[in-house]
Amino acid sequence: MSTEVSALQQARAVYQPRLPKALCQQTMKVELGEPALPSSGHEELKKHFPKTYGQRVATLVQGDGAAPFKPLRVGVVLSGGPAPGGHNVIVGLFDALKAVHAGSALFGFLKGPGGVIKGKYKELTADVVAPYRNTGGFNMLMSGRDKIERPEHLEACEKNFAALDLDGLVVVGGDDSNTNAAVLAEHMLGKGLRTRVIGVPKTIDGDMKSREIEASFGFDTAAKTYSELIGNVCRDAQSSVKYWHFVRLMGRAASHITLECALQTHPNVALISEEIQAEKLTLREVVERLADVIIRRAGAGRKYGIVLVPEGLPEFIPEIKALIDELNIILGANKGEGKKQIESLRDHGERVQYLSNLLSDHSVRVYAQLPFDIQEVLLKTDSHGNVPLSQVETERLLIDLISDKIGLLSHERRKEIAFSPLSHFLGYEGRCGAPSNFDADYCYTLGFAAAHLIKAGLTGYTVHVRNLTRPHEEWIAGGTPITALMNIETRRGEPTPVVKKALVDLQGAPFKTFAAQREMWALEDAYVLPGPVQHFGPPEVCDAPTMTLKMERAT
Ligand code: FBP
Repeated sequence: MSTEVSALQQARAVYQPRLPKALCQQTMKVELGEPALPSSGHEELKKHFPKTYGQRVATLVQGDGAAPFKPLRVGVVLSGGPAPGGHNVIVGLFDALKAVHAGSALFGFLKGPGGVIKGKYKELTADVVAPYRNTGGFNMLMSGRDKIERPEHLEACEKNFAALDLDGLVVVGGDDSNTNAAVLAEHMLGKGLRTRVIGVPKTIDGDMKSREIEASFGFDTAAKTYSELIGNVCRDAQSSVKYWHFVRLMGRAASHITLECALQTHPNVALISEEIQAEKLTLREVVERLADVIIRRAGAGRKYGIVLVPEGLPEFIPEIKALIDELNIILGANKGEGKKQIESLRDHGERVQYLSNLLSDHSVRVYAQLPFDIQEVLLKTDSHGNVPLSQVETERLLIDLISDKIGLLSHERRKEIAFSPLSHFLGYEGRCGAPSNFDADYCYTLGFAAAHLIKAGLTGYTVHVRNLTRPHEEWIAGGTPITALMNIETRRGEPTPVVKKALVDLQGAPFKTFAAQREMWALEDAYVLPGPVQHFGPPEVCDAPTMTLKMERAT
């Protein structure tokens, strides 16, 4: 780690993240409530998770006497894309373990789940952890996207946990990683091994949420970081009065980030993939709607504007979704052999030729119409079967198609509209920012609670913190059995239990609030500039949760 730190980092290093009241007590204990069941797939899930299915919800409450406890030995792993606050999860875990017993030890597995499988770790002592307090990034341990799922992975984990004599492992990750945590927990329990496995809900995408999990960490800081930049671009557009800015926003499938940024900044257009899918809009129709706003604004003398484009959009446009589904089957055929076969072909031309024999006629036509770089990206699915959407430049595709459409108009009309587009992608810029006060406190609480779930001997749980829109003293921390968050989905042609991803709810308050105002935002300049994430100052500036969370929890 670099030894030179900024003035802000120095000031943040001494910030003590705030805990819910119940977690400030040495006497805290776990109270078990009702069994937590999934909303569907009961029988199938019971078959996959005979030991951990139907466990009871756990809540951390104030106890009535400080019981002495033995030292705990715990491992932690950061999984998937970075999200602001990950370091504070580790710091909270560390502080809680040391409070349980000064002799407790924490081990950080390196470069994601791959490090757990390979047994690559470092011991996290007070000196190692200290410089990372309240900092963004996952660089303390680094991350990775490997999956712990195959029998040989599980066996390797067993061996590595035994070598370190671990009481528990904390998996910090999104839906896929928490699914893996459930699989590992079931495996360890099934074999009568003592290492407990606890998940922590992480992802800037905001899609690991449910009735039980109010928010994934990192969403707050990332959405606020993007909103600052979008607000600045809005003001620039209004100042230079000549550009249309197309801003693609990270977030994988779900449009939560785009929706939150729209609520914070009031752009002229924000595409919400879930709505486009519900209305079954084709790419042509999406382009027509955008062109309509551009033309109407030009008619009102505003030849500039802002369009927000969610990263996941291609997967929600029916014809592209059908193509992606077909490609997934082709690439995943024979446990990934299909992908290897395509990669072994000499050049792009050969790949297109090969695919045209396997895709449906309609998908062959859709594929052929896509720009070369998008065609290539669609062939690079990751180990979870996900298309690397962050590399698909949908905003450029939209710009090209709109330009073509406007290009068909008469010379005079084109001059009147003066469509001059610029493209932006906001993604990696928001994943490692210094966590907002909300994420700093929330993550510290998640880590702290994880230690206590392990101390209580629980396994196969994801940490939850409820009441997040209330002052931190009133937050309620505990654990939700991961199986209760799961459903059965078809992955690579097989029914597979996975933690359910939350997409934007078109009946929910955040979307409805946006939908009620967007026509006005389209034509006027109703831009709002949220400014940078603030760590010091009045609570309404520093501590406010996202609008999405406030609206969801107000209903
Ligand atoms: P997680 O689901 O692992 O949190 O990933 C979040 C994310 O930032 C997505 O929004 C994005 O599509 C993806 O990671 C990019 O992946 P990579 O870091 O591998 O480029």
